[in-house]
Amino acid sequence: MASADSRVTIHMAASLDGYIARRDGSVDWLETSDEFADGEPMDPGVVEAFLKTIDCYVMGSRTYETALGFEAQGLGWSYGDKPTFVLTSRNLPRMRENVEFYAGDLAQLVNGRLRPSFRSIWFVGGGLVSAECLRLGLADEVSYSILPILIGDGVAFFEELDRDVALHLA
Ligand SMILES: NC(=O)c1ccc[n+]([C@@H]2O[C@H](COP(=O)([O-])OP(=O)(O)OC[C@H]3O[C@@H](n4cnc5c(N)ncnc54)[C@H](OP(=O)(O)O)[C@@H]3O)[C@@H](O)[C@H]2O)c1
Repeated sequence: MASADSRVTIHMAASLDGYIARRDGSVDWLETSDEFADGEPMDPGVVEAFLKTIDCYVMGSRTYETALGFEAQGLGWSYGDKPTFVLTSRNLPRMRENVEFYAGDLAQLVNGRLRPSFRSIWFVGGGLVSAECLRLGLADEVSYSILPILIGDGVAFFEELDRDVALHLA
């Protein structure tokens, strides 16, 4: 039975024109030099405390490959020691104990496996997986960060979504 208070969040950062990566998968544009004068500074202690509230991560294989690429460049692994579920039908390298591969029915994974075990479940991309998650009605919330840049073309936040999904703005 699903945990009554489990919560599935989709979180990514997009350009103002709605892309999460260039068509070649690069995300160099995430580093902007712009400053939001009225914004609050990201205190590392607050970020660290917030990350502790996330219980597990779910991602598509292409996002996983990007994360492995960052790690190979010495930029570290962004998901700490939290259980991380990677959706793939391929045999990808498993670089750490807390990474698990899954192929098949996403609703079965979320409702049958993750919700009963984890409270805060974070889908961290990419576009294909976030669209699949919404299409199947699995997400409780979408956390959509917008960067002040236009990149013209790329992988959409909700890639290949084939129908309307009405949401409530919170
Ligand atoms: N800006 C941001 O915040 C942000 C965040 C995350 C990612 N990104 C970027 O987004 C890009 C990746 O997004 P994407 O939409 O191309 O790909 P993705 O969503 O990361 O991965 C899609 C792949 O996951 C596998 N998959 C999905 N559902 C599955 C299922 N139910 N069972 C088995 N396998 C499944 C399939 O690959 P297989 O062939 O392996 O089966 C599918 O092609 C990367 O460039 C990444 O850097 C940006």
